[in-house]
Formats: sequence, structure tokens, C-alpha cells
Amino acid sequence: MNKEQKPEIIKPDGATYTIYKYNKLDSTNAFLKQHCLTLPDFSAIWANEQTHGRGRFDRVWNSVPGQDLTFSLMLPLTSLEQKLRQNITQIAALSVAQLLEGYGLKPYVKWPNDVLIQGKKISGILCEIAESNENVYGILGIGFNVNSMGKSLSCIDIPATSFRCELHHTVERLELLKKLLEIIINCFNVLRQSGFTHNRLEIKKRLAFINEQIIFTDVKRDAYSGKIIDLNDDGTLLFECEKHGIISLNSGEIAFTQIERFCPPE
Ligand code: BTN
Repeated sequence: MNKEQKPEIIKPDGATYTIYKYNKLDSTNAFLKQHCLTLPDFSAIWANEQTHGRGRFDRVWNSVPGQDLTFSLMLPLTSLEQKLRQNITQIAALSVAQLLEGYGLKPYVKWPNDVLIQGKKISGILCEIAESNENVYGILGIGFNVNSMGKSLSCIDIPATSFRCELHHTVERLELLKKLLEIIINCFNVLRQSGFTHNRLEIKKRLAFINEQIIFTDVKRDAYSGKIIDLNDDGTLLFECEKHGIISLNSGEIAFTQIERFCPPE
């Protein structure tokens, strides 16, 4: 299905990125992984519709064709220090949060890859690594609920919202995408030039659930209750675990069952 399509190519004057807009792809992450060798750095693959959108932990990512944003951005990681590569997901979440703030909204980052507004998910990020010959690429996939509303959001098995629900009007997706790509590339340049310090402080300001009782599930799906104390210098979470004491978490996720209890400070 992917092969026959010719994308619309959008490259605004002076932009570092190029957008390739497709009508229908299985998954923009899967597509970009297959084609990263033939595409320039900072290529963004945008699909109006995904037939097999994927999230973390093999979940399905559903979005409404023509309404939401589903895209993947290719980041050149070959010369990026190994330890900074794990921070890519978080800087993407920060970028989405900063974009939303530009519209007067108050987003929170649910470590490491979700962006929430009043406890409801508006965006999720799936970052994968592709390696070819000597080169390493970050495939940064972002799903963003933009103009979907009502039933399509309530069908999602976690509390969800969209830009339109929050702003009470529709939003032009291309404009949003261009702004978001600028912010991500800017944060990425800060990361490669001066490390994680600056981005870390910005994420910390927006970190959801800090000092709140939460349930954390690790990659083996084992659950632990405890409190997030801090975001460590390297982007791992400092967690006060009821069972194991103070530990650092570098993967896994905060369970969504606790979201209803999340009250952002006034
Ligand atoms: C998550 O919340 O677990 C991450 C969701 C990531 C979804 C995006 S949509 C664009 C890109 N293509 C995919 O198949 N997945 C990501």
C-alpha cells in the first residue's frame, strides 16, 4: 500500500525540515525506518491516515483520519553522545508541551512520553532507533489529538482530550506541525550542543505527579507503588518505591489508573 503513493512535499523557506505528506500509511514510524537511508536528516513523514499506528508496549495508536496528526521525524543521532539518546523522547514531550503553552494551555509531561492536559492524554510519543551502516537515526513518532472529538476520544481506553476540545475551535494541522517541528529541532540542537541540563529543567517544571502517590509499571509489567521525587540529571526518574526504597527508573511507565487523582497546582 505504501509504495505507489507520491507524497506532497512541503519545505518552507529557511526550514531545516522537509515534510512528506502521505494520504495513507501503515505506520509513519515503520515507513520512516524503512526509508531513512534515502531521506535527508529532519525528514518528517506525515500520514493523513495510519492503518497500523503503534504506541509503546505494542499498543495500538488510533487517531481520526484527516482530523489528528500522526507523523514521524528523522533525527541524526550518529554524532550524539550515547547517553543523550535516551533523552529524545522527553525532549519531544517537552516540545509538544511548549507548543500547547503557546495556545494558552497548561500541559504536563507524564514521564517519559505522554503529554496531558488536566489529566487527559493529548499526545503520545514513540521513539525508535534505526541503525544502518555507520549511521544511527532517531525515529521520533508523535500522535497528537488535534481536531477529533466526542466518541472517537471516549473510545480510547484512557482519559483523552484534543486541541479542539481544549480550545473550542478547530486547528489547522499543517500550521501546528510546522510550529512543532521548529520547536523539536530547536530542543534537539540544544541537546546536542549543550547536553540535557537545560531541557531537563524545562521538563521538570512541567512534570506530572511529582511527590504524588502513583503506580509505576516496569517493562516486565511488574507494578510498584511510590512517589516520584525528582527528574535526575540524566533524565531517569528518582522514585521512592514502597518496596525497594529510593531507586532510579529508566524505562516503564506511570499507570493511567492514577490519573483521576492528578490535580495540577493552581
Ligand atoms: C504512545 O502513546 O504509546 C505513543 C504513541 C505514538 C503514536 C505515533 S503516531 C505516529 C507514529 N507512528 C506510529 O505508528 N506511532 C507513532
